[in-house]
Amino acid sequence: MKQLSEKIAAVAPSATLSISDKAKKMQREGIDVISLSIGEPDFDTPRHIKDACIDALNRGETHYSPSNGIPELLTAISEKISSENHFPCRPDQVIVTCGAKDAIYEAMEAVLNPGDETILITPAWVSYEPCVQIAGGKVVKHAINEKTFQLDDSLLERVNTKTKMIVVNSPSNPSGAVFDTNSMKLVADICQDYDIYAISDEIYEKLVYAKEHISLAAIGDMAERTITINGFSKSYAMTGWRLGYAVAPVEIIRQMSKVQQHSVSQAVTFAMWGAVAALKGDQRCVVEMRTEFDRRRKYILSELNRMGYETAPAEGAFYAFVNVGGDDVQTATRWLEQGHVAVMPGSAFYAPGWIRLSYATSMEKLKNAMDRIQKLGRN
Ligand SMILES: Cc1ncc(COP(=O)(O)O)c(C=O)c1O
Repeated sequence: MKQLSEKIAAVAPSATLSISDKAKKMQREGIDVISLSIGEPDFDTPRHIKDACIDALNRGETHYSPSNGIPELLTAISEKISSENHFPCRPDQVIVTCGAKDAIYEAMEAVLNPGDETILITPAWVSYEPCVQIAGGKVVKHAINEKTFQLDDSLLERVNTKTKMIVVNSPSNPSGAVFDTNSMKLVADICQDYDIYAISDEIYEKLVYAKEHISLAAIGDMAERTITINGFSKSYAMTGWRLGYAVAPVEIIRQMSKVQQHSVSQAVTFAMWGAVAALKGDQRCVVEMRTEFDRRRKYILSELNRMGYETAPAEGAFYAFVNVGGDDVQTATRWLEQGHVAVMPGSAFYAPGWIRLSYATSMEKLKNAMDRIQKLGRN
C-alpha cells in the first residue's frame, strides 16, 4: 500500500481528548470520576436561543444558505463587532463557520504559504499548531513570562523575515490570563512594524472577571491585518451547535470563503437562526453564567492557594492554571487514578509543570474535587 499523507501523520492527536477518554473509560467501569478536564460550559443553551432554532426548523429553514452565513447573522455580527469591540465591521467582512475551530483552520489556510512562520504564545490551546501544520506553515513558540502572564519585548526575538502571522488568545485557554493594553499594543506594534498578520482568538471574550477585554483589531490600524475569531460555544453554552465566526479584511474573508465552499459549504442553516437570537436577544443569560463562573473561580482559586499551589492570574475563561512543579503528566495521572479527578496536564499546552482545571462544573462537584485533591497531598 502506498504511504498515507506525511503532513497529517506528523500532526499529534488531540491531547485533551486522550485524558478525557481515559476518564470516561473509568466512569464506564463504575468509578465516580469528577471531570475538570473539559472546556465546555455545563449550562444548557438558553431557552430563547433554542426556540429561535426550533421556529426556524418549523418554518422550513432546512436548506442550503449562502456559504458565508445567512444575511441576518452576518449583519448581527457586524453590528456586535462595531459596537462592542470598537472597530468598524461590515457584513462582507464576516464569515460564519462550523465552530470557532473551523474559523481558525480556514484562517490559517487562507493566509499561510509553505514554510511561513506563525508565532504561538505558550501556553497555548491545542489546535493552533495542528492548524498551522495542515496549512503547511511552521510554528515558532514563544513562552510567556510565567509570573505575569503578560507579554514583553522578548516577543520580538521570535520575529524574522519568514514570520507571517502571530496568534493571540485573550482570555487564554489554558491559563485564564487576559492581556492588558500593554501586551496588546506590543503585538500591534510588532505586526505593524514587520508586516505580520494576526489571529486574535476572542472566544472567551464574555468570560472576563474584573478586567477589561481588549480586541486586538481595535488598536491602531490592526483591523487591516487581524482575523478576529469568536463564536457561540462558550458565551452562550452552544458547544454542540458548532457555530463560530471570523471577522477580517474582505480579501482574507474571500480566501476563507473558498476553503469553506469546497469543504463544509456552510454552517447549519437553522442553527444560525439560533445564533441571531443569541446576539440580538436579552444578554442576561450571559451575565448569569459569568456570575456563576466567577463564584466558582473564586472558590477554586482560594482552595488551591490554601493548599499551597501557585496559580496563574485566572482573569478570564473558566480555567484555573496551577503550578504543580515537577512532572505534570504524572501528577494528572495520580489525581485521576488515585483521586478520581480528571484534569489536563500543562504539557498538552506546552507548559510542563502546570495543570489546567476547568471550573465549568457544578459547585458541588468542585467542592468534592477539591477535597479529593487535598486528601491526595502533594507529590
Ligand atoms: C481558545 C479556544 N479557541 C477556540 C475553541 C473552539 O471553539 P468552538 O467550539 O467554537 O469550535 C476553543 C474550544 O475549546 C478554545 O478553547
